[in-house]
Amino acid sequence: MALPESFLQELIAKNDIESVVSGYVSLKRRGRNLVGLCPFHGEKTASFNLYPETSSFYCFGCQAGGDVITFIKRIENLDYMDAVRFLADRSGMKLPEYTKENDASSRLRMRILEANREAARLYHQALYSPEGKVALDYFHRRGYTDATIKHFGLGFAPPGWDFLLNGLTAKGFHREELIAAFLAAKGRNGGAYDVFRNRVIIPIIDIRGNVVGFGGRVLDDTKPKYINTENTLAYVKSRNLFALNFAKNAGRELNLCEGYMDVIAMHQAGFTNTVAALGTAFPDEQIQLIARYADRINLIFDADGAGQKATRKAIDSLRKTGLDVRVVTIPDGKDPDEYIKKNGAEAFKLLLERSANAIEYRLLEIGRKNDIHSPNGKVEYMKEATALLSRLNNRVEQDVYAGRLSELLGVSKDAILQEIQSHQRRQNRAAERQMLTTILRQETKELRMVNPQANTFPRAAAAEESLLGTLILHPDYIAQAQKELPSEMFLTDFNRELYGRLLKRHSHGLMVELAFLAADYDELGMAYISRMVKDAKDRIAEDITVYTAIIREEHALKGMADPAGASDESIQKMLETLRARKQ
Ligand code: UTP
Ligand code: MN
Repeated sequence: MALPESFLQELIAKNDIESVVSGYVSLKRRGRNLVGLCPFHGEKTASFNLYPETSSFYCFGCQAGGDVITFIKRIENLDYMDAVRFLADRSGMKLPEYTKENDASSRLRMRILEANREAARLYHQALYSPEGKVALDYFHRRGYTDATIKHFGLGFAPPGWDFLLNGLTAKGFHREELIAAFLAAKGRNGGAYDVFRNRVIIPIIDIRGNVVGFGGRVLDDTKPKYINTENTLAYVKSRNLFALNFAKNAGRELNLCEGYMDVIAMHQAGFTNTVAALGTAFPDEQIQLIARYADRINLIFDADGAGQKATRKAIDSLRKTGLDVRVVTIPDGKDPDEYIKKNGAEAFKLLLERSANAIEYRLLEIGRKNDIHSPNGKVEYMKEATALLSRLNNRVEQDVYAGRLSELLGVSKDAILQEIQSHQRRQNRAAERQMLTTILRQETKELRMVNPQANTFPRAAAAEESLLGTLILHPDYIAQAQKELPSEMFLTDFNRELYGRLLKRHSHGLMVELAFLAADYDELGMAYISRMVKDAKDRIAEDITVYTAIIREEHALKGMADPAGASDESIQKMLETLRARKQ
């Protein structure tokens, strides 16, 4: 809709650029103009210029420039109409379109939005009523604070068929309006019933602040896990991203997760630039939306999540829009929500910083060694790069980099993926052979010589090896172990070195499974390590604490007179108790 000229004139007159911009930038007068630090790029010397005479701005650093509406578009991350609306609000003007919305469907659209807003309020109130205690406990148990609950407007739809119907008809909404809003559904004999029942409620809010829909999650393992608002007059799923209303103000980098709860946990942990795709298969519109608000996107997935297929397909489209696409893999098939709960925000930040960059860095190194403009160099580069990518455990990630290689080398992406796969098959065979030798050699004397210090410190070595075996099988405990035990505490060199290696690989987002250690150890070494892993399958987090305590104890004893000690027995007892407990 074109805005009337008279309206725009008034809008610009009431929002002079100097007063608008000075709300964001601290300006100093320089001659006829004003200068300040550019809000659109990081800088230390002022290159942002404001020209009151022409009602415009320009930055010599990043070439951003324009009028007052453009400024608001950029700084508030709004589209044109919303920037106009923003300035109209700021100066107490009424948008002309409000009076024009008088046809039936736009009226219904407004009613749906109003109903949604009321519904969100009722659900939120219900969460803090006695009836909602189960739901509030549920959120608290998942680690969400009251501040987070309030920020996202989380709520509870009580059990029963008419909580919302009653609440909203009492406020003057008609049944038809609630059905059109997907808040209620038609019953068999002409009646209606609530769509969301006995579920925690997550409101979906668009970039203008409208409540456009809801996600409702069960409190237990009932299926379906989530019910989501379908498309309505006020809501087109494919044009929205969950939490974009918050994330759009958090800079030009977005994190994309799979679920509502992941987004909520990420925001609570300080990653407020996080959104989720609302269970859609990533249509072009969502990709456009992302491109509008970000220059870089981090796709965050658990190792083999179901959402990956759709995303893999979308990656090329994402990259075609010029976005810098990165993939962050979360170890051990956890989602971000679980990972942050277990390891904390700092650990997640490391993951975010390192996981993609490590590969990038190594690709650059390979690029430096080989001149890709010569045929030989190109072949070498391809060989080394695909070998590198074959070590990635994440298909999405492989796909991203295969796409980049394809562009760089002018080779088809399929050919690159095939090359990666053949590397992988070769690696698997080698790892298998190594495992076999391992098993054959298990109890020999040679094996004992891998870590000769184990004979001097049997109790410590047993605890060290139980710990290491557990960490290799349950890498999600590595962060905990790292916190509880620095590697200097280890008494035997072989085990200490392995521990250090596990910590390092883990912090770089690399796998620590046996097969991934095979490159670093000879057959005996691998045999020794696989023995540690053998019994570690059922270990739990508490065991880590037991082992680290023993190692600390032994470390303290080491300096004392009687190193051999009589404690060999007690560790045996302890391990036996542990095993008995798990059987
Ligand atoms: P997940 O099954 O991974 O759930 O679905 P989650 O987000 O981790 O939730 P919690 O931690 O178990 O509570 C990922 C996303 O897929 C959509 C939702 O948007 C969900 O957040 N989904 C999943 C549905 O729409 N319906 C479902 O039944 C399941
Ligand atoms: Mn989850």
